Amino acid sequence: MVEPLIEAKNITKIYKRGSETVYALRNVNLQVMPNELVMIMGPFGSGKSTMLHLLGGLDTPTEGEIVFQGEDITKWDEKRTTEYRRLHVGYIFQSWELINNLTAIENIEVPLYPTKLPTDEIRARAMRLLRQVDLYERERHFPTQLSGGEQQRVGIARALITEPNLLLADEPTGNLDSETGDIIMRMLKKLTRGGTGTVVATHDESLRRYADRVVRFLDGEIIV
Ligand SMILES: Nc1ncnc2c1ncn2[C@@H]1O[C@H](COP(=O)(O)OP(=O)(O)OP(=O)(O)O)[C@@H](O)[C@H]1O
Ligand SMILES: [Mg+2]
Repeated sequence: MVEPLIEAKNITKIYKRGSETVYALRNVNLQVMPNELVMIMGPFGSGKSTMLHLLGGLDTPTEGEIVFQGEDITKWDEKRTTEYRRLHVGYIFQSWELINNLTAIENIEVPLYPTKLPTDEIRARAMRLLRQVDLYERERHFPTQLSGGEQQRVGIARALITEPNLLLADEPTGNLDSETGDIIMRMLKKLTRGGTGTVVATHDESLRRYADRVVRFLDGEIIV
């Protein structure tokens, strides 16, 4: 039997805002298999981003476990969690937050700078990715010299350079026209077929056709 790549077990996440208590997630269970693209859909404020943050080790649940390749990541110390975030997880956000004084190719390389990989190996990987996202000959452009869609693709290449097992995409097409959005989604689909587990959070119903499975969130709970 194939084991899930990652599994959220009975997750509850409570945020406290002053005297107010917000249940961002309530008893959520979610499994992602390798080679599977799971799409989390739901309205504003339903807990989609919170779920991605927890899966990616960016935040810890109030209750429950996040089991990655058989280990509960919520029990890990900061060092282990940082390593997990850096090497196993690729994040794609709606706001790609590129570093403005670095070129496209350097932005893609950033996640590998702290590693011991030789710089020519890092450059070779980044160039390969640049071609994959169809940005060949844009490597010396700075983010401000790229269109929104191009910046988004640099962000995606950056998320992929560590060859992550888990890809987390939060509204990856949110700022893009539908044609560029399709290119991005097809790319995510292809990567998933190549072996990653992918979770896409969106409220765009038109992306549903790219999902292997759709999970619907409402007010922090999964609805069937
Ligand atoms: N850091 C935080 N502090 C307090 N409340 C938070 C925090 N982050 C999220 N929340 C609350 O938790 C709930 C879920 O938020 P979340 O961002 O996960 O929703 P979402 O489904 O991603 O929404 P959107 O579609 O707008 O991105 C919301 O009510 C939100 O206000
Ligand atoms: Mg969100």
